Amino acid sequence: MPFSLPSDLASRPTPFYLYDLALLRRTVQAAQHAARSRHIQVHYALKANANLPILHLMHEHRIGADCVSGNEVHRALEAGFRPEHIVFAGVGKSDAEINLALAADIWCFNVESGAELQVLNELAGRQSRRARVALRLNPNVDARTHHYITTGLEANKFGIGMAELPAVVDLLPTLPNIELVGLHVHIGSQITDLSVFETLCHRVNELQTWFEHRGLPLAHLNVGGGLGVNYQQPDAELVPDFEAYFSIFERLLQRRPGQQVHVELGRALVAQCGTLVSRVLYVKESQQTRFAILDAGLTELIRPALYQSFHLIENLTGQGAEQLYDVVGPICESSDTFGRRVPLPETRRGDVMVLRTAGAYGEVMASRYNLRDLAPAVYV
Ligand code: LLP
Repeated sequence: MPFSLPSDLASRPTPFYLYDLALLRRTVQAAQHAARSRHIQVHYALKANANLPILHLMHEHRIGADCVSGNEVHRALEAGFRPEHIVFAGVGKSDAEINLALAADIWCFNVESGAELQVLNELAGRQSRRARVALRLNPNVDARTHHYITTGLEANKFGIGMAELPAVVDLLPTLPNIELVGLHVHIGSQITDLSVFETLCHRVNELQTWFEHRGLPLAHLNVGGGLGVNYQQPDAELVPDFEAYFSIFERLLQRRPGQQVHVELGRALVAQCGTLVSRVLYVKESQQTRFAILDAGLTELIRPALYQSFHLIENLTGQGAEQLYDVVGPICESSDTFGRRVPLPETRRGDVMVLRTAGAYGEVMASRYNLRDLAPAVYV
């Protein structure tokens, strides 16, 4: 079925983000079904979209929270997530953020360096607490995705490199307020080549053995997120193939008895349920190009400008023969371009234009550049 706008929204001022909560529910249920039958725990990476109605739905389906800032921890608590279902990750946690998470007694800190481990130990001591910790390792696995969203290679800033790991592990006995509970890896985002996750499983198995040889059994393995979605043809795959994804971990991860396995998905859960709705302000023709200028721009959806990423663009009201348009926003940047030479029906001022698959890393990355207003969210 082609995308359509509920009739009561047709006259609403644009731009706005439209979230289909029924699709979100179906997606979350599919993920939970595939994960639970394999005894895998799903956490949701709030960074993809931290809107409260979305978080409430996640929480209702017993999904945990993966947070990367103090404000995200705070938001997760506000949305009703229990502290024991909250993980706090991030390469640069401030003292104030760590203190907040310690005071809330969250389940686990994903720690990215020896220096951070020492700070955490000290701050936990001051609160007379023990912090549960998973070491985030850099497994040096190529996610084969856009280089800006690859995180698991030695060259990236994320995680503890294999060369540093022995020294970090040697610190542990000197840190009385730290309890090592697990291992964390995350290699990148928008991963569509599932064989990457197979390679990751083999790496995690090796790492786990490495820890055990040092007398450190791991109660939990967090294998990160990264499952990609279909930006080219969203309607062909509104719900990602979670069965294929989770079955890899079921088959290849060498789980120890009683060990917990976590994933922390962002995009795969929320990307398809969100759409950016805008109107055409002007159609402008130059010598070589016909521009459709929208009232939404990189301030509402920065992914095309930042990663040259593709979002399907549809004109919901245009009629007539298809022509090619460069679809651009109103912002004073040449990179404020959503698509070049996009085939669209003849387009006029006032036409409603949507950018699909905008639920993840859309609204959360909005800015007020050019002093624009932040676009509102509408839920159906
Ligand atoms: N866990 C960690 C440690 C992460 O860094 C991320 C995403 C996730 C989980 C969730 O990854 P996902 O399942 O959503 O792929 N702004 C970029 C994506 C940045 C992803 C950052 N980390 C984009 O718009 O493509």
